[in-house]
Amino acid sequence: KRIDILGIATAAGASVRGCGMGPEALRVAGLLEALVDLEHSVADHGDLRRVHPEMSTNPSSWRLPEERKGDVLDLAARVSQAGQDILAEGNFPLFVGGDHSIAMGTLSAVSRHCQNSGKPVHVLWVDAHADYNTPDTSPSGNLHGMPLALLGGEPGFDDSFGGDWLGRIDPKNVTIFGARSIDRDERRLLHARGVEVIDMRKIDQVGVVALMQPIIERVKSAKGHLHVSFDVDAIDPAIAPGGGTLVPGGLTYREAHLIMEMLHDSGIVGSLDVVELNPFLDHGGKTATLMVDLVASLFGRSIMGEEPGPVEFV
Ligand code: ARG
Ligand code: MN
Ligand code: MN
Ligand code: MN
Repeated sequence: KRIDILGIATAAGASVRGCGMGPEALRVAGLLEALVDLEHSVADHGDLRRVHPEMSTNPSSWRLPEERKGDVLDLAARVSQAGQDILAEGNFPLFVGGDHSIAMGTLSAVSRHCQNSGKPVHVLWVDAHADYNTPDTSPSGNLHGMPLALLGGEPGFDDSFGGDWLGRIDPKNVTIFGARSIDRDERRLLHARGVEVIDMRKIDQVGVVALMQPIIERVKSAKGHLHVSFDVDAIDPAIAPGGGTLVPGGLTYREAHLIMEMLHDSGIVGSLDVVELNPFLDHGGKTATLMVDLVASLFGRSIMGEEPGPVEFV
């Protein structure tokens, strides 16, 4: 199965600029080479980005998330269409951000595609945050904190968020993995909707293997499509400094790789986001390189060497 890379070069959903350069940094760090090395065939669709903005006379508009909503939603619609096209051709979409608001589009693509085939969609959201705010609960107004709530069908999003492109996911099929920063009202919503939250404390106490196994088993027995959405801030800032919303106490190097290695062996992953890499804040490509290595683990790289032949994903 071919891996189709789609860059989404935007920071419109974030409070800090710079993650619009994420796709290019991952290419420079060797993303394509790593996948080709594993004998995958790869196609790079280049980057989607905002249409050329009308001339702005307001240099401070970045401080207002509301003024960037149009860009976020315009991109989400285009990402949804492009993602559905990739999936319809039978290829594996690798969405490269960009801030996490791009998942409004990527999850919509996956959900709309799987709706046709009747395959249930499960989401593994690897992140320091839950990204389950609505415009009513968000303390910041930043749209990268809202994609899961939008796809989960939460009230509070006005009509501008709707459209042909938008998909739906069942909040009960979502697992957030690595969380350690959740807002008060966001936490209430997560409880009310039955979203599974595996926070860092649980990971400390129980360990990655015992926590990942039931997730994988569940998707397998449902014959589902697993979408993995990987926010670089899930990883500990000491080894992944290239993000705009860092939180201490994150996943270690080996915990992060183990997640990816187990996902590879499971064969259930059907699509992937890599988001929130901010090359402007990164230290000499450290975080970009780490993310490329993690993606390689998901696609079959292992310590004792690759299995011969291309790796098939269901
Ligand atoms: N919960 C905070 C908010 O809603 C932070 C969200 C950070 N999200 C992210 N994708 N980095 O503003
Ligand atoms: Mn996130
Ligand atoms: Mn995050
Ligand atoms: Mn620094």
